[in-house]
Amino acid sequence: MRQPQPRGPLGEDLLAALREAPGAPAAESRAAALPDAARAAVSRADGVLADDDVQLSLFLLHALHYQGIDGVDDRWESDPELLRTRGILSDALETQLRAELPADTVPGTPQSVADALFAMAADDDGPSLARHLSGRADAVQAREFLQLKSAYQLMEGDPHTWGIPRLAGRAKAGLIEIQIDEYGGGNAARMHAALFAAGMREAGLDDAYGSAVDRVPAEWLAGVNTVSMFGLHRRLRGAVVGHLAMYEMTSSVPSKFLARGFHRLGLPAAAAFYDEHVEADAAHEQIAARDMAGGLVVEDPAVAADVFFGARCVLHLDALAARQALARWEAGESALRPAPAEFSRSAAAELVR
Ligand SMILES: [Fe+2]
Ligand SMILES: [Fe+2]
Repeated sequence: MRQPQPRGPLGEDLLAALREAPGAPAAESRAAALPDAARAAVSRADGVLADDDVQLSLFLLHALHYQGIDGVDDRWESDPELLRTRGILSDALETQLRAELPADTVPGTPQSVADALFAMAADDDGPSLARHLSGRADAVQAREFLQLKSAYQLMEGDPHTWGIPRLAGRAKAGLIEIQIDEYGGGNAARMHAALFAAGMREAGLDDAYGSAVDRVPAEWLAGVNTVSMFGLHRRLRGAVVGHLAMYEMTSSVPSKFLARGFHRLGLPAAAAFYDEHVEADAAHEQIAARDMAGGLVVEDPAVAADVFFGARCVLHLDALAARQALARWEAGESALRPAPAEFSRSAAAELVR
């Protein structure tokens, strides 16, 4: 992905460090100062979920483990100072999520796990962006929606794939069955990320991974960072499974609304992405809830509580992101962050005043 603009002191220090060659002696390395900068950013933040400097910095650190960042040496991926920095930020994210979410009692059979997860999804009363898109959103808001979603959707499937080597038996088989569809059954053009990219091109948007990141607020990056954090830690394998289960269980019905909205606005490729998910995810949610999540709770009881934690995170972070966009749209504003050029113009106007 292209290098985004930093959103505060930590992001500035991180991007400056990443532009250098890794492996310099500590005394000369900017990276050596990053763990302290991360601690300072976390203590400055009023909660990390909506903090732009923390979320963008964590998003960049995660990007090193996916497709990398333009102009950044791939060896930074395993640099000890960067791993320590990532740990400080993701610990703060996990701590806040655990503090904000209730702990669930864990049932004992795959069917009772599935029932409990379906009940959790049914009880959810978070705001619905899909309903807004279906009936009310205009073309400008629909394009903004695609940009907001793109930070995840253009790498759809990837964070959960980290879970595969960490699972065994029925849970592993269930995860693989779902992921095969996410990756288009081996057909590059049918990969869900590729279908989403086609929707972006149709709307006149750049479909390169990360091209919209400068416009995506912290509340949306927090959702992507959370699933990347789950995927990158074997300790959190229960959470990655619970996350995918709830993601699939809350996809089919909203996808129907989203497809309707994009058809209404004359964007058939974006509609096709959501049409694909209406049927696919109606099947995936069954495999995800019973085989994958239910299987894991029985086979690996030590991580059972985290299955429910991961599931709750989906609902919590979806609601956070939906509230951000709906509040801005209801105020007649854009849900996106200002483009970097617009930002420097308005910052300059502010200074002149
Ligand atoms: Fe998908
Ligand atoms: Fe799916």
